[in-house]
This record gives sequence, C-alpha cells and structure tokens, in this order.
Amino acid sequence: MATDSSLQTGAGMAVAPHAEAFDQLLCVDVHDETHDVKSFTFLSSDGKAFDFEAGQHLSLELEIDGLPESRCYSMSSSPARRKAITVTVKRTEGGRVSNWLHDNLVAGMTVKAMGPLGAFVRPATAPAKLALLSGGSGITPLMSIVRDIADSAQQAADVVFVHAARTPRDLVFRDELGVLANRLKGLRLILLPEQVTGEPSWPGLTGRLSKAFLSLAIPDLAERVIMCCGPAPFMQAVRSFSAELGSPAQNYYEESFDGAGVEEPPAEVLPQARAFKVEFAKQSRTIEVADGQTVLSSAKKAGIRLPSSCANGLCGTCKSKLVSGSVDMQHNGGIRQREVEAGFFLPCCSKPLSDLVIDR
Ligand SMILES: Cc1cc2nc3c(=O)[nH]c(=O)nc-3n(C[C@H](O)[C@H](O)[C@H](O)COP(=O)(O)OP(=O)(O)OC[C@H]3O[C@@H](n4cnc5c(N)ncnc54)[C@H](O)[C@@H]3O)c2cc1C
Ligand code: FES
Repeated sequence: MATDSSLQTGAGMAVAPHAEAFDQLLCVDVHDETHDVKSFTFLSSDGKAFDFEAGQHLSLELEIDGLPESRCYSMSSSPARRKAITVTVKRTEGGRVSNWLHDNLVAGMTVKAMGPLGAFVRPATAPAKLALLSGGSGITPLMSIVRDIADSAQQAADVVFVHAARTPRDLVFRDELGVLANRLKGLRLILLPEQVTGEPSWPGLTGRLSKAFLSLAIPDLAERVIMCCGPAPFMQAVRSFSAELGSPAQNYYEESFDGAGVEEPPAEVLPQARAFKVEFAKQSRTIEVADGQTVLSSAKKAGIRLPSSCANGLCGTCKSKLVSGSVDMQHNGGIRQREVEAGFFLPCCSKPLSDLVIDR
C-alpha cells in the first residue's frame, strides 16, 4: 500500500503531519452557544499547555456503540490561551458523533484526540488586511483567528468579518462578536441572517450573500486575504463572487467541513477505465470502482454508508479496515504508519490497485 503523505494542500500551504500532541483531553465545561450548537472545553489530562495555530483543528477519536469513530473539529478558542482548548459543535441531523457529543459528553469525562492538524491558518506573509467569511458552524476556525487577534493585541489588524446564518438565532458567537467589534479598532463585523424569523426588528441586511452585497460590504475585497468556511454552496458563492470582483485566486483560502469540492473528476472523463470489484463486507454490497477513482467517491455514488469528512486524506474520519486487496493511498496525514501496518486505510484518498474487501 502506498503511504506517501503529500505535505501540500491545494491552497499551497503546508499541512501539519498527524501529530499526537493532544492525546487525552479532560472535558471541563460544556455550554450552549445556540439551540443546536454547543462548545466543549478541555484541559490536557497531563497538564500540558496546548500549542496550535488559529484555524487548525483536532480529530476526536471516539468509540460509539463499540465502533471507532473519528471526526475533525476546529478549535474555536484562541491559541493565545494555552491552558484550555475549545471546540464548538453543531448537532447534525442523523450524525453519529455530533449527536453523541451533544447528548453524552459532560464535564469530568475524558476523550482521545489527535492534533493539531490542518493548514487553514493565516498565511505567514499575508498583508494585514483580512476578509473572514463564515456560514453557520463554519465560523469556528475564523472565531479562533479573531479571538487570537484580540488576545495578542494585534492593533494593526484590519479585518472585515462577515458571518452568515439561516436566522439571527443561528448566529453562533453573536454576542461575543459584538463585544469584540466594539473593542477592536480594526474589526468590522457584518452579520447576515438569511431570514429574520423570530426577530423581525433585525437592524441590518438580510438575505443570501450576493456579489452586490460583497462589493458594498467589502469594497476593497481585492486587496484582502480571504478566508472562508461554511457550507459548500456558501463557499462556492464567495469563491466565484470574489474572483469576479477582482480578488486574485492566490489570496483565497477555504476550509471544507464536508469535503465538498475536493473529489476527483467523475469516471466518465476517464475513457475505457478498468474497474475493480470492491466489497463492503458488513453491508453485503459490492460495487465497481473505475481505475483512477477513489473508493469513497464511488461508494458515495452507489449509496454505500461510509463516514467521511474532509475527503482529502486529512481528518481520518473515513478510516476503514482493508480485509484484502491493495490500494494507492495518497493521504495528507490522516492515518498513522502503525494503523497502515495494522491494515487500515483511508477510502477518500485511496484508489484500488486490485479487487478489495473492506470491513464496512
Ligand atoms: C477540518 C474540519 C473541521 C471541522 N470543524 C467542525 C467544527 O468546528 N464544528 C462542527 O460542528 N463540525 C466541524 N466539522 C464537521 C465534523 O467533522 C463532522 O463531519 C460533523 O460533526 C458531522 O459528524 P457526525 O458524526 O455527527 O455525522 P455523520 O455520522 O458523519 O453523518 C453526517 C451526515 O450524513 C448522513 N449520512 C451519513 N452516511 C449516510 C449515508 N450512507 N446515506 C445517507 N446519509 C448519510 C447523516 O445522517 C448526517 O446527516 C469539521 C470537519 C472538518 C473536515
Ligand atoms: S474523509 Fe478525511 S481522511 Fe478520509
């Protein structure tokens, strides 16, 4: 099995290798941010200080009903406050891990985590001017950046923060953002609910992010480094509107929570591809995966139930046991060498080299 781990993302930033620095985390606080979003704060169980960059995430390694599950969560806390770390999780309908966290994780419990991971951080050589754009729970890495700017008294920072959500009650960190915007001279905050259900006296604009909105809200967008995180359609809109408004592609960075937009081209564009048989043993399903396609993308198309998150070999969510066969795996740090040696692989970044049987 090829285990070469590429250290470069599409955005051209270095990816942190799969560090194990976080290990066991002791949950010390849980609180509601909105009706379906909770923040969980942890201390390191061995008393160590945390070292990460604003925008990075960790991978929670849980066992739920006897099955291993790992999911990524961005730190929402400031890296300048090193004694504790906070992740902020939205309850996903039907989701295994987010619902388990909301319903079961309480102060006093210990969970396993790996990290810090990821490269969605402020580019080291970036100009001070930033445009942060988040949709829904995509605010978490950007909140960490703003909290970091506040904590480290970066007075020269010039930040426009646009935070969009379905309704005002879905605006995560709304009150704290207001306080920060009053305190930080260089922070301009624009909250954009799509509808004002429950709060008809909303004082600002409402609706979906549009090109006209972006050009009015951030007239100097083309001069800013843009960092965007949110649902796929939100990021797609920001990406294309900012390009149309003259922002250079190299100034645009995004973080996907669901791996949208990073899958390889469909099989149709690979003429006369060979195909391998891939069996999902527990589901008693066998599919064909065309040469050059990843196991995950073909499984998804065939409606096979397979957990996934980054779809980029980074988070470890899709980690599965390979019972037989071999794959070409090009991961980005989402699996450790000893797991590979134990027969695990990441279907999102693995292309079959033979017929496969997978323990899923
Ligand atoms: C880098 C990164 C950072 C992230 N940061 C955050 C963060 O800060 N906060 C946050 O809330 N989330 C974050 N996420 C997302 C997070 O990792 C999880 O993906 C999210 O919490 C959902 O996980 P889950 O286990 O609850 O849902 P899953 O069990 O993975 O299910 C996801 C959805 O898919 C459906 N589903 C699953 N399989 C099938 C199937 N076969 N057919 C039909 N439907 C199916 C489920 O019903 C559910 O709606 C991040 C992701 C990444 C990659
Ligand atoms: S889905 Fe993230 S490593 Fe496969």
